[in-house]
Amino acid sequence: MSTTTIDTQSLYRRIEHVVPEVEWAGFEADIEAINRLKKERNAVILAHNYQTPEIFHCVADIVGDSLALARESVDVEADVIVMAGVHFMAETTKMLNPDRTVLIPDLRAGCSLAESITATDVRGLRETYPGVPIVTYVNTSAAVKAESDICCTSGNAIKVVESLGVDRVIMLPDEYLAQNIAAQTDVEVITWAGHCEVHERFSPGDIEQIRTDHPGAVVVAHPECPPEVIAVSDMSGSTAQMLNFVETTKPAKVALITECSMSDNIAAGMPEVEFVRPCNLCPHMKRITLANIRRALETMSHPVEIDPDVADRARLAVQRMLDVK
Ligand code: 13P
Ligand code: SF4
Repeated sequence: MSTTTIDTQSLYRRIEHVVPEVEWAGFEADIEAINRLKKERNAVILAHNYQTPEIFHCVADIVGDSLALARESVDVEADVIVMAGVHFMAETTKMLNPDRTVLIPDLRAGCSLAESITATDVRGLRETYPGVPIVTYVNTSAAVKAESDICCTSGNAIKVVESLGVDRVIMLPDEYLAQNIAAQTDVEVITWAGHCEVHERFSPGDIEQIRTDHPGAVVVAHPECPPEVIAVSDMSGSTAQMLNFVETTKPAKVALITECSMSDNIAAGMPEVEFVRPCNLCPHMKRITLANIRRALETMSHPVEIDPDVADRARLAVQRMLDVK
């Protein structure tokens, strides 16, 4: 049997600006085990931008926003995909990779947006607004996607809405994302009252306070924030678009109005940028830890399964989104 020793010190150097050495000592054994288990299982780890730096930088094979994870999951060469993210992301990965085993390390990693709407609600909307296309944010269950015409993410929502060539769409379930998109298009957008429990907590007062306390800070906000927050921010975009903005413009000082780990993950590679951290934690994303990723690979838990009929219909809505250029 051959063994490979992982150079954990070089992994630590990736995150030394954001993770103190004393914390690292508690991560090393799991990181070593996960990297060994990935080889044994022929597995890859997909990690959302909101995962903690030791997951994002030290065990993940593919990182990104919801759109990138969905797109890139189909190109991996692996038998097993571990989703270091939330349940709807694992479901989207499974519907795009029906022949692979997709694992979610903690079944409780949910999402307040996905919880805000059911398939029955979507059927009700279709009856109320006959003929109006239903654009569904990927932050929903497979059952809700299956009732939809097309999906979108925060990274492509405007393109998706405008690709339909209609005057009116239903966009669900995130009311604020829908309102923020409506502000950028002539298409009328019918909304649903779902909210992200992380982003809805930011207020224009928070931004005002940041500008007073940190003069010159560039404010970048996720479009799940209320429209009044976006109105007083300098830039808005998906988590990948936020990262790209910081990497290309290299502001001296920046405030990311989103989940806490985003700043840590970017700061790890950009010590020259000062990050103001008015963040909110996503309790669902934080269910995923090194310890349960390791357990997932050791015990192959928890495999994601979707009813085949639901998966077929949901895949169509996701595929239509991926086909929008
Ligand atoms: P994106 O990474 O697609 O911007 O989504 C943010 C989010 O809240 C995912 O749960
Ligand atoms: Fe859901 Fe908000 Fe958490 Fe994203 S940050 S998983 S939208 S609750």
